[in-house]
Amino acid sequence: MVVPESQDTMYYPPSDLQKDAHVADFSSYLALYRKSLENPEAFWKEIADKFFWKKPATGPVLQYNFDVKQGSIYVKCMDGAKTNMCYNVLDRHVMEGNLGEKVAYYWEGNSPDHHMTITYRQLLSQVCRCANVLKQMGVKKGDRVSIYLPMIPELVYTMLACARIGAIHSVVFAGFSSESLCERIMDAQSCVLVTADGVYRGEKLINLKQIADEALEKCRENASSSVTKCLVIKHHALRTKSGATCNKLQTPWDSECDIWWDEVMRDSPEECEPEWLDAEDPLFILYTSGSTGKPKGVLHTIAGYLLYTSLTFKYVFDHHHDDVYWCTADIGWITGHSYITYGPLANGATSVLFEGIPVHPHVGRFWEIIEKYKVTKFYTAPTAIRLLMKYGREPLQKYDLSSLRILGTVGEPINPEAWQWYHGVVGQGRCPVVDTFWQTETGGHVLTPLPAATPLKPGSATFPFFGVEPTILNEHGEELEGEAEGYLVFRRPWPGIMRTVFQNHERFENTYFKKFPGFYVTGDGCRRDKDGYYWITGRIDDMLNVSGHLMSTAEVEAALTVHQAVAEAAVVSRPHKVKGECLYCFVTLKHSREFNRTLVDELKRLVRERIGPIATPDFIQNAPALPKTRSGKIMRRILRQIARNEKDMGDLSTLADPKVVEVLFSHRCEAAP
Ligand code: PRX
Repeated sequence: MVVPESQDTMYYPPSDLQKDAHVADFSSYLALYRKSLENPEAFWKEIADKFFWKKPATGPVLQYNFDVKQGSIYVKCMDGAKTNMCYNVLDRHVMEGNLGEKVAYYWEGNSPDHHMTITYRQLLSQVCRCANVLKQMGVKKGDRVSIYLPMIPELVYTMLACARIGAIHSVVFAGFSSESLCERIMDAQSCVLVTADGVYRGEKLINLKQIADEALEKCRENASSSVTKCLVIKHHALRTKSGATCNKLQTPWDSECDIWWDEVMRDSPEECEPEWLDAEDPLFILYTSGSTGKPKGVLHTIAGYLLYTSLTFKYVFDHHHDDVYWCTADIGWITGHSYITYGPLANGATSVLFEGIPVHPHVGRFWEIIEKYKVTKFYTAPTAIRLLMKYGREPLQKYDLSSLRILGTVGEPINPEAWQWYHGVVGQGRCPVVDTFWQTETGGHVLTPLPAATPLKPGSATFPFFGVEPTILNEHGEELEGEAEGYLVFRRPWPGIMRTVFQNHERFENTYFKKFPGFYVTGDGCRRDKDGYYWITGRIDDMLNVSGHLMSTAEVEAALTVHQAVAEAAVVSRPHKVKGECLYCFVTLKHSREFNRTLVDELKRLVRERIGPIATPDFIQNAPALPKTRSGKIMRRILRQIARNEKDMGDLSTLADPKVVEVLFSHRCEAAP
């Protein structure tokens, strides 16, 4: 890798940012990067030394086997050490760092009337109380706690309370359906569920407790009722001034199982000694879609995740003490875990915690919040940028965005038009855009620019982070040098990589390590240009990326075939202006069933109910037959071409019945019905 001097349009780091940056130019990045690969022990030891270890590690900072041919895959960080995540992200700042009075979060509710400021000291006290409540409820080290909450401070309290006592949290995005919640509770065998009575998302009131109850009922039907207690938060935005619940919400209640958060928190002691845990003890499980349909419980452990999220946060957002940082993701996804909860807190950062949506109560809400809190570092997704671009410059011009220094993006490839708008209009041409590529599995950023060091090319995630060694392989597993396109893989682990699929190590090895022994396989395609820049080209497995959320085709197909009228279904992606990709579904009906508008509505509802609103199909088309090979395999390439109206079909000779293609074209959906 050389200092890039390219013919492409490049954006160079602004000199004012470079003045006090942690990594101030490209050669400093290269020097540190080299150190991280050539002497990982020294590199990570220096990082680890900043944290508190009750007992030191007994061996090298990073130990691993990354080759299935050499035996079982494992990664260990700080093995033998004893520590506590919660202590490191809270007590350390309050006790040793004098940050007790510093703001940890500015919480901003769905409505601008609801907001709250939480200092590190207050956060620690709430977390300790919650930890004592969980203990009182019988939660012990290693137990799983499912958390189904909107973006309220209690979500962070509960995660950190689990971390404090050694329980493993499993946060489930509160937009998921009861079916999806049930599946995740059953897989994790959680003993407690934490939820809220309800929440407003924009104008819409959602009865979360009812969905949670339906999920628990489904678990019981499946003879898998591990949850014995359900802790329920009264969402304060749903109270009247006198404290009564707004009358639009009926909260179902089971006095055997349900406990009001307020009642138990009130008397709970503010002190709770942290449990001293092994560095490799599990911290959390987070479910992500798998290409076989059933979600995978990605498991992260304490020490490696702490080192990696804290370091990436510090360098990628060039964090300084007086920053106000805002990541708009939901904590129900990995972006929120790593870059709202753990990474920022490990650095003693001040963050905005936002419950609402970008367009409520008006389309300038994001810009209003940036002005209100003088946000310096802003991190969002391409889908949000594309949504807000639609409203033009006017909503931004009403607000002062001059506090912004660095912009970040995550979740999917960012198209050049969105990048230019983000950089030129939101950042007013003076803020670098860090396009961070990573995954639930990687724990933190793996390909990313450093804002004061890396010359940017719009649409490229640029170069690897410290300790990360990417390479590109062809179909035969051969490494490609120089300019190349193929499978993006990593040759060695970094501290924050996932350790296993919860209770299914075989699936972990099969999914990520079997295809190309010796490498972690991301499932993404990637191109490296002549300057060594990496460009993600999208998923190469049966996964779809809708608004930055990964989904498997199998998961949606399984939901569609639950309908009595459907014999078979196949789902592909079609480009979408705002969501990036959307779902285009082909359904073959059972004999004598009629394809009509009512059926389409029923199918959409079914997918929403079984997975959640994020998976709602945009297109459902009648497919009297599907294009299959002689061995019966559906040729998705052909379906993708039909969905995109690409008439040049290429080679159809492997199809059992090539006439199917013409029939499918005649039933094609032009615009969303
Ligand atoms: O396909 C890549 C895409 O999102 C996938 C990971 O999704 P998930 O585990 O849900 O985590 C999303 C947030 C980290 C990747 O395999 N992806 C993520 N970031 C980018 C991206 N694609 C291109 N550019 C990115 N910056």
